[in-house]
Amino acid sequence: MKRNLTFIVLCKDAAELKEMGRALNNHAGTSVLVMSDDPEQVFTETARLRPSAVIINLVHLGEPGLKLVQRLCTEFTNTAVICASRETSPELILRSMRAGARDFIRLPINDDELSTVIERTNEFVSDHAPDELAKRGRAIAVFSSKGGCGVSLIATNLAMLQTTPTVLMDLNLQSGDLELMLGVRPKFSLADIVDNRDRLDDALLTSYLTQRSKNVSLLAAPLKAESAEDIEPRHIYEVMELLRRRFDTLIIDTPHSFDAVTISALDHADQILMVLTLEIHAIRSTRRALEIFDRLGYPRKKIRLVVNRWSKNIELDQKQVEDFLGERVVGFVQSDYRAAVNSINLGQPLVESAPTSKVTADLRNISAKLFDGKSEQSAAPTSETKRSFNSIFRRQQVSVEDFGLTAALDRANL
Ligand SMILES: Nc1ncnc2c1ncn2[C@@H]1O[C@H](COP(=O)(O)OP(=O)(O)OP(=O)(O)O)[C@@H](O)[C@H]1O
Ligand SMILES: [Mg+2]
Repeated sequence: MKRNLTFIVLCKDAAELKEMGRALNNHAGTSVLVMSDDPEQVFTETARLRPSAVIINLVHLGEPGLKLVQRLCTEFTNTAVICASRETSPELILRSMRAGARDFIRLPINDDELSTVIERTNEFVSDHAPDELAKRGRAIAVFSSKGGCGVSLIATNLAMLQTTPTVLMDLNLQSGDLELMLGVRPKFSLADIVDNRDRLDDALLTSYLTQRSKNVSLLAAPLKAESAEDIEPRHIYEVMELLRRRFDTLIIDTPHSFDAVTISALDHADQILMVLTLEIHAIRSTRRALEIFDRLGYPRKKIRLVVNRWSKNIELDQKQVEDFLGERVVGFVQSDYRAAVNSINLGQPLVESAPTSKVTADLRNISAKLFDGKSEQSAAPTSETKRSFNSIFRRQQVSVEDFGLTAALDRANL
């Protein structure tokens, strides 16, 4: 079976490290998780990320390099340890094999040879704990480019609708409120996971989550705003990977900005559920966000649009909105102020507090489309008169610059 193979690369020589990273990234079905020149870092990252393989360039490492090979092979039996070097004496190859290396890559990298090594790594991974390595839950980021559109409400209810182990991650680092929506009191948060990432095992990871129901756990936002400052984009990726190994589904409630931490979550999510309301401001800022996603290189199939607070009294034509956005809407969630406010005040998601309401039925439909792969498009229930609004939009030249979001633009300009 072909899998996505993950690699950590160790090399003391910056140019060779770059060359190895590029060659691996160019290869279909591989991703490089960490590139480092520090053997200790490689050891701790391997412990945390459990990659398919670690490649160690022995140049400048000498005997300690072979010791590291031995240590990695003993500690991480499901990870293939591969040596690499420009020096290819039979003695060095033999010593690396004796230390436990599965393979040897001659530098400079030859693509055919690399393909063979990757093929063999794939076989190794298939033979070693295939079940554990195959598990990589799906990750859905719920996002909107404007506040108050219903991201937290939709993320929470989608999580509650899952019938297999699901974790809800609150990425609103300064002002998370999912604990209120779920009616729980977290003792720990994302900040604890990040602080203790060097010694995280399954048991410790689980202890930092707050169980809400049989299937749903919450990874709360930092309980103190100041601890959010230490959270970096790479931590988000690492935490997402850890959670995906334990849970079938990871749903992330993201902030409405394109800061580096949010982009890291969006980058690594399988899908982005983009929430908007049918107000001109929200529609226009959704289009800007879609443009940013394009520039970040996200394929459009990664994005799913959902209209929240829909009402038949809104006089906008669905087709025109879709044409303006250049994207179909996959679902509509009815506006139900009473049910929404009660649900939040009670700390009971709509699926519990109003299970038979229309708004819950809409959320069930969206969950089925997203998670069960049912048909992709949705038609809003029709209303009689629809106002043409193209003229309103035509006045506005949409540009990403006025987002004023340096991180996104830096990335997008790559
Ligand atoms: N379908 C709906 N019908 C009526 N009210 C809704 C609906 N969805 C959300 N709301 C209300 O809109 C408000 C914002 O919802 P929510 O907190 O989920 O949005 P958000 O995008 O996460 O906002 P924030 O910017 O605060 O993160 C809440 O008061 C919620 O009750
Ligand atoms: Mg929110």
